[in-house]
Amino acid sequence: MADLREAWRADRLRAMVYDFGVRTYPINAVGARLLWGYDVKRLSRTIGRLSGEPDDVTVLDLPCGGGVAFAALSRGRRLHYVAADLSPIMLDRARANARRRGLDQVEFVQTDAGSLPFADRSFDVCVTLNGLHCLADPAGAVAEFARVLRPGGTLRGTTIVTGTGGRRDKLVGAFQRRGYFGPSGHADDLGRWLTSAGLTDSEIDVDGAVATFTARRPR
Ligand SMILES: C[S@@+](CC[C@H](N)C(=O)[O-])C[C@H]1O[C@@H](n2cnc3c(N)ncnc32)[C@H](O)[C@@H]1O
Repeated sequence: MADLREAWRADRLRAMVYDFGVRTYPINAVGARLLWGYDVKRLSRTIGRLSGEPDDVTVLDLPCGGGVAFAALSRGRRLHYVAADLSPIMLDRARANARRRGLDQVEFVQTDAGSLPFADRSFDVCVTLNGLHCLADPAGAVAEFARVLRPGGTLRGTTIVTGTGGRRDKLVGAFQRRGYFGPSGHADDLGRWLTSAGLTDSEIDVDGAVATFTARRPR
């Protein structure tokens, strides 16, 4: 899976095409519906939950991509927001996105999801949107999220899962062969990754091929 990681880190065209598509309506809505049977409003709702967080929370957004979650931030909010990704190209796009929105509270960090450069218990909220299926070791990334969450903190995310229909599974296989997706897994696998990481109160809701999930680090 070294190629998978390297392709996400260094492929400029991939970063540009993906980020443009995911942040451009109606490309995102039509693409999500046709490819994955997914209503992209659900992604907006997951992102929107960040707006309801109190101002003093510490948030990790990984992989941030071009900053799709920044839609929930507003100028002047004091929350400490770390946007992290493996790809310097994505991070440049996220920086430009934050600048356009006038967001100066975002700190940018280049890192691999599998070994985060943050101390244990540093974040109140971890957000991982459309990311776990792109990783070679999604279970390892979930364990890292659990490690950096404070007791009582929340992990929230979305990811493509398998087992939701033959056509969608074939599409996952095609993305895996082309080096876009990692091993991915069924919704049940996602549940196991959360539990094995010591997270509790997990909720997983699947729409089309996309699982929206939350879990909590026990106090
Ligand atoms: C499908 S995009 C999702 C980005 C963003 N969350 C969104 O919804 O638009 C997947 C992201 O994962 C990043 N990525 C891939 N492998 C990674 C790794 N091992 N560690 C951290 N980020 C990684 C890519 O650079 C890319 O930005």
